[in-house]
This record gives sequence, structure tokens and C-alpha cells, in this order.
Amino acid sequence: MRRLSLVQRVGLLAAGIAALVGILFVAALVAILSLRNAEARESRSKDVTVATLRVRTLSADLESALRGYVLSANPRFVVIFQTARARVPADVGRLRDLVRDDPPQRVRAQRVENELQGYLVDYADNVIFLAQLSRAAATGQAAGSEAKRRIGEINGTLDELLAAENRRAGNASAHARDVANVAVGVGIGAIVVSSALVLLFGAWVARGVARPVRRVAEAAVEVAGGDLTVRLEPEGTAEVSALVTAFNSMTGSLELGRHQLIAQNEQLREGERHKRDLISMVSHELRTPLSAVLGFTALLLERDFPPDEQRRYLEIIDTQARRLASLAGDFLDVQLLAGGDLTLVRTRFDLAELVREQAQLFFLEPASHRLALDLPGEPLVVDGDRDRLSQVVGNLLSNAIKYSPPDGEVRVSVRSEGRDAVVSVSDDGIGISPQDGQRVFEKFFRAADAAATVGGTGLGLAVARDIVSSHEGTLDVQSAPGKGSTFLLRLPLGVQQPAATASANP
Ligand SMILES: Nc1ncnc2c1ncn2[C@@H]1O[C@H](COP(=O)(O)OP(=O)(O)OP(=O)(O)O)[C@@H](O)[C@H]1O
Ligand SMILES: [Mg+2]
Repeated sequence: MRRLSLVQRVGLLAAGIAALVGILFVAALVAILSLRNAEARESRSKDVTVATLRVRTLSADLESALRGYVLSANPRFVVIFQTARARVPADVGRLRDLVRDDPPQRVRAQRVENELQGYLVDYADNVIFLAQLSRAAATGQAAGSEAKRRIGEINGTLDELLAAENRRAGNASAHARDVANVAVGVGIGAIVVSSALVLLFGAWVARGVARPVRRVAEAAVEVAGGDLTVRLEPEGTAEVSALVTAFNSMTGSLELGRHQLIAQNEQLREGERHKRDLISMVSHELRTPLSAVLGFTALLLERDFPPDEQRRYLEIIDTQARRLASLAGDFLDVQLLAGGDLTLVRTRFDLAELVREQAQLFFLEPASHRLALDLPGEPLVVDGDRDRLSQVVGNLLSNAIKYSPPDGEVRVSVRSEGRDAVVSVSDDGIGISPQDGQRVFEKFFRAADAAATVGGTGLGLAVARDIVSSHEGTLDVQSAPGKGSTFLLRLPLGVQQPAATASANP
């Protein structure tokens, strides 16, 4: 779901409130217009009432002036009558004007005018004329029912007009009241809804901003306390959600950084350990052959020994000096491999021949161990650094001899397996425990029982595996404590095997 930003939320609230205010405004406008309408209607009704009453007074004036003249023959009444009569067009005209927009009232006003005209022309003029001829006849006529009927008719129509006008005014003000009531209701509703909207918005902002920000602050305190695993669920407004995401990526980077620091620290410690081990190893491993060389040289210099004894001591010095040279070579190799500076001098050669040579070297007569050598009938050509691979095979043979009892059998075989040449070196010696299985390839690692039995630096196999790896080959071990070990060296065969003319078995 798309998150709304704070600005969008405020915009939504403003739009909602604006819509409500608009409704409020329209309702008030409608109510005001309706009230004005009713007021105008009422004031017009008042005017109509006044005009109607004037016409009614006029008809009464006409009637009383006519009756006065007939009864008294006083011409003053004729003047009064004529004055009243002269007012008729204006008064009736005014009434007609006032009701001209109201068809039923207009009809009534017209009726009043007709009735008044009828009264004046058909009745009053005759009576005046008759009165001038015979007062007695006119008196009878004036007192007759004709006058009552006509005046009654006029008054009746006027009453009808008045009643209709009152009704209309009443209806208009009732309608105005209703509209005003509705407007007040709408206004109150809009105010209530606006207040609810504002409250809801407050809650929404609290939910979308205040709460998640508080959560981020709490998480920051946890991070400051060292807990870098803290992660937060993105919630709240878009801005706060972005803050949470940034916070999560920050803690993620911090955690990663800490892991890297721990790893680097561990590497540094490991390096330090290795240095310490190296120094103690070097001093220990160098001291033994060195003291032998120094001791026997001093002995030969101090005293004269028979030639065969002299030769024996010189052989010891030679062996120990070679040991020193080999140690120096191993340390150098470790340095070279660690720095990636080992350069291979690659040639194509027969691996079986190389193994045969090494076997002859390590099992010179009289040998302490028995050798069972199994070589293939044809050469197995590999591309590689012959000296370095001789070093690897030599180390495997030397280990088999070192870590198995005197007179034990060492089985060496060379064969091809698919595209690989495989050299296997097996002994029936002390073996390797499962937990030490892969550690024998680590630099300076020596199994406890091996270290207790015979000297060594723990570098031979580490150097050997690095050399084999740089030939795209593998070096592995299968072993069980007390049951001997088998080391398997696997190297890719050279692209083209030489023709069968090459030398075969030794
Ligand atoms: N054939 C084997 N039988 C039993 N244990 C072995 C055998 N070969 C190697 N190991 C174990 O592996 C360890 C490492 O061997 P590696 O050849 O690397 O060093 P090393 O023989 O101790 O010393 P050096 O540097 O003189 O060869 C040995 O110390 C020993 O514990
Ligand atoms: Mg060794």
C-alpha cells in the first residue's frame, strides 16, 4: 500500500474541512435567501392587507355617503361620495398592482374592481339620480337588499383576498422557518464532523508520526547500548517510513562493520599466534640440528678420531645441515606462498618417473621401512613444476616413514583415473583422528601424538597443498587413528600423452 506523506495527510484534512465549510456556507446561504424571501413575502402581504383594508374603507365610505345623501338630501354627501369615488381607480389600481404576480389574487382584485364598478355604475349612480327626483323612492331603494348584497359581495371578495394573502404569508414564513432549521442542523452536523475530523487527524498523525518516531528513538537507545541487531518495521507516514528504512540500513551497515572488525581482529590475533608459533617453532627446530652440527664439529676439531668414526660424525653433521637447509627452504616456501609469489617453472614430464625417483631417495638401502611400489606400464605425463611436485611427493613419503613404526610397509601407487593422474601413499602408522583430518593441511599444525613422537614444523603438508592447488590439483587424506593413513595426490593429465615410446617401469 502506498504510504501518504505528512503533507498529503494535512492536505487531505484541509480538503475535508474545506468541503464541510463549503456545505456549511451553502446551507447558511440557502437559509438566508429563504428568510429574505419570506420577509419580502410578508412585507408584500402587509401592503396587500393595507391596500385591501383601504378598498374596504373606500367601499364603506361610498356606501355611507350614498346613504347619507339619500336620507338627508344634503349635497355635502354627494361631494364626499364623489371624493371617495375619485379614489377608487387609485386604491383598486394599487391593490391590483400589488397582487399582479399572484394569479388567483389578481383574479380576486379584478373581481373587486368589477364589483365596485358595478356598484357605482349600476347602482349608486341610479340611486343618486332617483334621489334627485324622489327622495322617498330613493330611500326605499337605498335601504333595499340590493345595496347590502352588492356591498356584501365586495366585502366578501375582499375578505377572501385578505384570507388568501394571510395564508400565503403564513406558508412562506413556515417554509423559511423549516429551511432555517435544516440549515442550523446542517451547520451543527458540519461542525461536529469537522471536530471529529480534526480529532481523527490528531490520532492519525500520532499513529503515523509520533509513535514510529518514538520507536526509532527507543531503537537508537538500544543501538547506543551496543545492540546492532535492532531492526524496525517500516510504518507511519512516507517520511517516517523513509526514516525507519534509513535507520535499518544504518544498523545493518554498523552490524556488518562490527562483524568485519571482529573478523579482522580475529585475523590479526591469528597472525600474531602464527608469528609466535613460527618463532618458537623456528627456534626449536633450528636449535636441534644446529646443536648437533656445532657439537660434532667441536668434537672433530678438539680430538683426533679414527677415520671411520670421523666419517660417521661427518655424516651426522651432513644430515643435520641438510635438515637445516630443508627447514630454511620450508620457511621460505611459506613466505612465498603467503605472498602469492611462488612461481612455477612448468614442463611436461612423466609423473610415474618422478615418484620412482623420490621412492628411491627415501628408501635407500638399508631402509627403515619396506616399500611396495605400484607404477603404471606407461608414462603419465603432466604439465607442472617438476621440482615442486617432487617436494610434494617427498613430503608424503617422509610423513609415511615418520609417522609409522620401523619396518612398516609404505605402499605407493601411481595410476590414471579419467583425466587425472593419481598418486597414493599409504602407511600403517599412527593415523589421524577425525577432528584433525583437515587441520593437518594448516600451517604449523601438528597432531599431539605426532608431535610427541617425532620432530617437524607442521609446514610440509600446508606447502604441499598450496603447490598442488596451483597445479589445479587436489591433495586429500583418508585416515583413522591407529589404522594408518592414505594421502591421495590428484593432478590433471597433460593434454597430449606422449607416444608409447616413452620409458615404462623402472
Ligand atoms: N602419514 C601420516 N600419518 C599420521 N599423521 C600424519 C601423517 N602425515 C602427516 N601427519 C600429521 O600431519 C601433521 C602435519 O604434517 P606436515 O608434513 O605438514 O608437518 P610435519 O611432518 O609435522 O613437519 P614437516 O614440516 O617436517 O613435514 C603432522 O605433524 C602429523 O600430525
Ligand atoms: Mg612432513
